[in-house]
Amino acid sequence: MEAHSLRLKQEAHITESYRKLAVNLEYANIDGNIKTVMITSSMSNEGKTTTISNLSCVMAELNKKILLIDLDLKKPAVHKYFNLTNSIGLADLLLNKGKYNEYIHNIQPGLDVLTSGRVPSNSTEIINSKAIKDLLKELSSYYDYIFLDTPPVILVSDPINIAVYSDAVILAVAYSEVDKETIKKSVNILRQVNANIIGTVFNKVPLSNHNKHYYYY
Ligand SMILES: Nc1ncnc2c1ncn2[C@@H]1O[C@H](COP(=O)(O)OP(=O)(O)OP(=O)(O)O)[C@@H](O)[C@H]1O
Ligand SMILES: [Mg+2]
Repeated sequence: MEAHSLRLKQEAHITESYRKLAVNLEYANIDGNIKTVMITSSMSNEGKTTTISNLSCVMAELNKKILLIDLDLKKPAVHKYFNLTNSIGLADLLLNKGKYNEYIHNIQPGLDVLTSGRVPSNSTEIINSKAIKDLLKELSSYYDYIFLDTPPVILVSDPINIAVYSDAVILAVAYSEVDKETIKKSVNILRQVNANIIGTVFNKVPLSNHNKHYYYY
């Protein structure tokens, strides 16, 4: 994606923090047990889509094969990030099956994106379907990582269900927008389903805190 790469070039320190995030994910996966990684947050607008999209680009640049799937069926936005149409996507693929390349967009070498498609009202049924678990299993042989964008864990139950079939969870936190208690609540909700929380990414950190954006594992 030209526009996207351009944006990465403009803000080198931000690119650098996504690279560090990528390297940390690789360390978290030193034993190679992690294939499906979801991102969630406590509340809306904490930088989930931005983080997972940038992480996908950076990972692809590190020669990993990445598939990013928009599983935020409540507020799909990955297509906007990559300037893609969302007229077909995951929802259609699950219904019609068949050739993945009719549904999956190649963005840059190593990076494929599956948008949500037109989401029916019963999105929770899609999230909990055997079809989606089978699809992830089948696609996993083609990719090093499958990244999943999901809704906020306190507001919507979908991410809890997605955590059950994800190998790892990244928690996005909008620094100074969400208090500690709320973050603890999210962690507890995820722990109840034995989610493997491998890291927290702090977004929207004020520039005065030196780095606009950082994270820890
Ligand atoms: N690290 C960051 N620093 C500053 N602003 C950021 C950062 N990450 C994301 N943003 C901005 O915050 C807003 C929300 O980002 P994004 O859409 O990625 O959040 P989200 O958690 O996916 O939201 P939603 O809950 O609506 O899905 C956007 O305007 C985005 O540009
Ligand atoms: Mg989002």
